[in-house]
Amino acid sequence: MKGNSFYSRKIHSLLGVIPLSLFIVEHALTNFAAVEGGPQGFKDAVAFLNGLPLVTFLEIFGIFLPLLFHGVYGLYIAYQSNLNTGQFSYGRNWAFALQRISGVITFIFVFWHVYQTRFQVALGNVTHEQLGSSMHDIANSPFFFTFYVIGVIAATFHFANGMWAFLVSWGITVGPRAQRISSYIWMVVFVIVSAMFLLSLNAFRGDEFKEAAAALDVFTHTAA
Ligand code: HEM
Repeated sequence: MKGNSFYSRKIHSLLGVIPLSLFIVEHALTNFAAVEGGPQGFKDAVAFLNGLPLVTFLEIFGIFLPLLFHGVYGLYIAYQSNLNTGQFSYGRNWAFALQRISGVITFIFVFWHVYQTRFQVALGNVTHEQLGSSMHDIANSPFFFTFYVIGVIAATFHFANGMWAFLVSWGITVGPRAQRISSYIWMVVFVIVSAMFLLSLNAFRGDEFKEAAAALDVFTHTAA
């Protein structure tokens, strides 16, 4: 491996953990406010995040630029790698292939999802207060509901399995026992975080999120 690509790989790996893994957990918790507190709970959670000091700086340097580098360089790695390296046991070989496949699905999902949500706020088509009803329209479209279920499961798998691989490649879980225990822990994290996203997606289907739903017809009327 050339020196250059060694450092790019390390930066890619590190950005996957800080800040992207932190972001996905924070995002699952924010959305879960829709399950626990309904429309008002979700509005409050969004308002809290958007009221943080330096929020634009945090979004650019804590989410969008790391996501762009990790995503684009990740696609390059996925394109280059041989899915069947035979380096690992049968199970790890599968996990290795699924890490790349889930990365590609997550990339497509996040691109479209950000366009449907945050980008519409930036364009002035929707306010932060209307995001709950945007999600209501999205979650009630059979096409987008399926797209979100697949996207959320792919993203959460990519995060949990990526954390497992990170701990191995940075020399933190070294022996087979440590790696086995780590795989159980990340499997549980995968189930919990996926469940939180899926429960919130289901909560957004409720009529209580309907208010001002017409605002986002533009995204869903073709696919609904
Ligand atoms: C049930 C599933 C999900 C729902 C309901 C949801 C909802 C939302 C909403 C409403 C926003 C706009 C936030 C704002 O402007 O304040 C947003 C932004 C975003 N979402 Fe999701 N999301 C889901 C899953 C995911 C997943 C799995 C990822 C993958 C990492 C993701 C990545 C992002 C990103 C990168 C942004 C832009 C960040 C920001 O500036 O706030 N989302 N999401």
